[in-house]
Amino acid sequence: MTTGGFADGAVEFLPVLAVGATADIFVVDDERVLRRYRDLRDATAEAALMRHVWEHGFPAPALHSSDGAEVVMERLYGPTLLQALASGEFSLQDAVEIMADLHQRLHAVPPPPEATGDDVVIHLNLHPGNVVLSETHGPALVDWAKVTLGPVDLDIAMSAIILAEVAVDSGGDYSRAARAMLVNFLAVAGGNPLAQLDAAAQDRFDDPVLQPGERRLVAPAAALVRRYAPSVIFGA
Ligand SMILES: Nc1ncnc2c1ncn2[C@@H]1O[C@H](COP(=O)(O)OP(=O)(O)O)[C@@H](O)[C@H]1O
Ligand SMILES: [Mg+2]
Repeated sequence: MTTGGFADGAVEFLPVLAVGATADIFVVDDERVLRRYRDLRDATAEAALMRHVWEHGFPAPALHSSDGAEVVMERLYGPTLLQALASGEFSLQDAVEIMADLHQRLHAVPPPPEATGDDVVIHLNLHPGNVVLSETHGPALVDWAKVTLGPVDLDIAMSAIILAEVAVDSGGDYSRAARAMLVNFLAVAGGNPLAQLDAAAQDRFDDPVLQPGERRLVAPAAALVRRYAPSVIFGA
């Protein structure tokens, strides 16, 4: 197999930029990285949706090529939003606004022709670890592994659950910060995440990337989202 001009095995000789949960990111050159799923699952559909949102001005890395499990894309420079939060460079409120803004912009992208009903492109993994504060495009969204077409509320509910998982992890360093982020995120993100909360929790629970310890956090996290959802607080 060749991918983006890389002959069989050649990828192994590229420097590794990051080892993620499901994929390895290799440096191709100053402008490009190669992302490859370790289980070699096919990334074609994901790459097509990445290209679609990029063509509509959404800040995703520009796609160079895709072949099977490998995607060659623009190399972004900058810390992740999670790193900027940890270093104190960005406040919790900054982070929440960036997350809400990325949701809004993504959901405003005209859906591709195969979308039905009110479905739009949804990322389903929009959290501070997947936002790169890039020099070129400002906050940019990476890790399109779960991208699909679906309801806006499902995307918002999923981000809320991911924040809530950190909040309910009482032993975790970021537990209190994540709770504050969750409350603020729910207040600014809009939509009606409660409408898709059960579906989001199930999808998250079934995500093979989660460790057993993380999976145990999903149900309490969903309960926390339910407690802080604006429609519960304000009776909207
Ligand atoms: N296009 C890119 N340019 C630069 N760094 C990237 C790019 N895509 C991903 N990364 C870095 O690699 C890390 C892991 O990538 P990600 O796609 O999130 O994989 P995983 O599914 O394993 O979490 C990201 O948090 C980011 O720091
Ligand atoms: Mg990631």
